[in-house]
Amino acid sequence: MAAPKDVLLPHSADGIQEYDNPMPAWWLGIFYFTIAFTIVFIPYLWGTGWTQEGQYEDEMAAAAEAYKVPESAVATAGGDASGDAAAGQATFASMCVACHGADAKGGIGPDLTDAEWIHGGTMSQIQQTVTDGVPAKGMLAWGPVIGAKKVADVSAYVHSLGGGQ
Ligand code: HEC
Repeated sequence: MAAPKDVLLPHSADGIQEYDNPMPAWWLGIFYFTIAFTIVFIPYLWGTGWTQEGQYEDEMAAAAEAYKVPESAVATAGGDASGDAAAGQATFASMCVACHGADAKGGIGPDLTDAEWIHGGTMSQIQQTVTDGVPAKGMLAWGPVIGAKKVADVSAYVHSLGGGQ
């Protein structure tokens, strides 16, 4: 015979009493499931070394790889905007003044401070001209000589002289 149900316990709190019944089966089921889950899950965590942070970092690294912008796209689109005009001024003083003049108003090479451009006055066009030069006209290809970083810097400086578009 099953244990008698709905037997009141003798104590009372402000008139509230309770039965001495077992926990409902559905509640015990969930409770035992959480214990079983822990027994499986904790060794899984320790065994695989999985962490939220690790998963996050892996996904960020994969995204950085997947969405990497090729160097060539930078040169043809808006140009490399990371150039530092102040640093570029020093490069200009040592490499460019001989032909473009100390004030960049021209000499052997054209004035770089006005809005007149032979090869275009946008950041990417200036970078293009400085990188590849115009060998036939005496403007050297500076890309291989000073490197992409200094090209970006000196282009930012030229672009800032007033004629940049
Ligand atoms: C040996 C002389 C010489 C030197 C040094 C020189 N340039 Fe030039 N540069 C020229 C000449 C000549 C032209 C004109 C090319 C043409 O007529 O197509 C020119 C053109 C340019 C143009 C394009 C101007 C336009 O109107 O489109 C830019 C920008 C430029 N130079 C930047 C520089 C920078 C920056 C440096 C230093 C890293 C430099 N140049 C060093 C001779 C020189």
